[in-house]
Amino acid sequence: MSEMFDFDQVIDRKNTNCAKWDGMKRKNVNPDVISMWVADMDFKAPQRVLDVLKERIDHGVFGYSFVGDDYLDAIVSWMHRRHQFDIDKQWIVPTPGVVTALKLAVNTLTQKGDGIIIHKPVYYPFDRSILANERHVVENPLIFKDGQYECDFEAFEKAIIENNVKLFILCNPHNPIGKVWKKEELYQLGMICKKHGVKVVADEIHQDFVYEDNEHIPFYNVDPSFKEFSIICTAPSKSFNLAGLQTSNIIIANKEIREAFKATMNRVGVDEPAILGLLACQTAYNECELWFDEMLEYVYDNFTYLDKFLKANMPEIKLVHPQGLYLAWVDFRALNMSAKELEDFMQNKAGLWLDEGYIFGTGGEGFERFNLATPRATLEKACQRLLKAYQELK
Ligand SMILES: Cc1ncc(COP(=O)(O)O)c(C=O)c1O
Repeated sequence: MSEMFDFDQVIDRKNTNCAKWDGMKRKNVNPDVISMWVADMDFKAPQRVLDVLKERIDHGVFGYSFVGDDYLDAIVSWMHRRHQFDIDKQWIVPTPGVVTALKLAVNTLTQKGDGIIIHKPVYYPFDRSILANERHVVENPLIFKDGQYECDFEAFEKAIIENNVKLFILCNPHNPIGKVWKKEELYQLGMICKKHGVKVVADEIHQDFVYEDNEHIPFYNVDPSFKEFSIICTAPSKSFNLAGLQTSNIIIANKEIREAFKATMNRVGVDEPAILGLLACQTAYNECELWFDEMLEYVYDNFTYLDKFLKANMPEIKLVHPQGLYLAWVDFRALNMSAKELEDFMQNKAGLWLDEGYIFGTGGEGFERFNLATPRATLEKACQRLLKAYQELK
């Protein structure tokens, strides 16, 4: 349990236009569910961030802003401290969100009709970013074996050759499966892309959430040549619960790619930063590391709680051992339900609103994604609801 920060506090988020706790009506979901979908936390952002934002709000003038050196220095320092990742501040391109950046990258690095390869199952806006821009999704299904996900590198290369692939979107740590890609795996992926002239977007938004002996390796740290053909998407939004402030930092070392990316931003009109997001990011990276470390421990304990609960009460339901993320990937295939039956069971029998595995594509069916960045009491309540519904099945 945290000594300095209170992650146990249950905060009522209803009636705040909050997707997670107010989104039921818009999505036709039973209003009494416990909400554990979408990747934001039920914790308050660090107090220091709140104080800095309050001070800025009291100042009262919210004119146009620009990205200052202090802001860039905060990002450079965080990447160095947390990930031994040394970046030049000129490489940083702020955007209002990583999904926005994915779409900008698709537009910058590919043409209509090109293939873009992604592993499956994966965060569903990857597909949407590709399809909305009239490119083709090329899938490389990951192999689930002995409770772990592995990549078939031969199949990955074959799919690139056969489908006019121009871009690979990597998710590391990998949402929803909790995989933290190893350096050797990243090396193989990167080398295959390099060989075939495929650019890489590494979505590393979950970079700070790694457990046990897993280590997050930024894509540029895998091999010095990777800088030349890839971009890395980062943000403080997952780590400090700031998603609504729409601030992310895209790292682009290659000048030509960076200029082309900025030209796309200019063309579509997303080149003005929002002051509150900048301030929150800078403060979080500079002053809230302790908060982050305690929060991470709290969330890890939630994983342990869920794992023990399942093993004790529903041993056929299995938590995929988490290497990273605050999202738990749970295998319900033993229940032998169709994707729709499982969704109905969760929402209407258990009263839980989760991210259904099938929405993450091939290989996701029969799994559920639980958001564990929530107070223990909420998790305990959710577990009890799940158990009751499970017992009623028998
Ligand atoms: C892998 C991944 N990328 C991007 C995002 C969203 O990023 P943003 O809110 O900055 O668009 C998420 C949120 O869940 C995510 O899991």
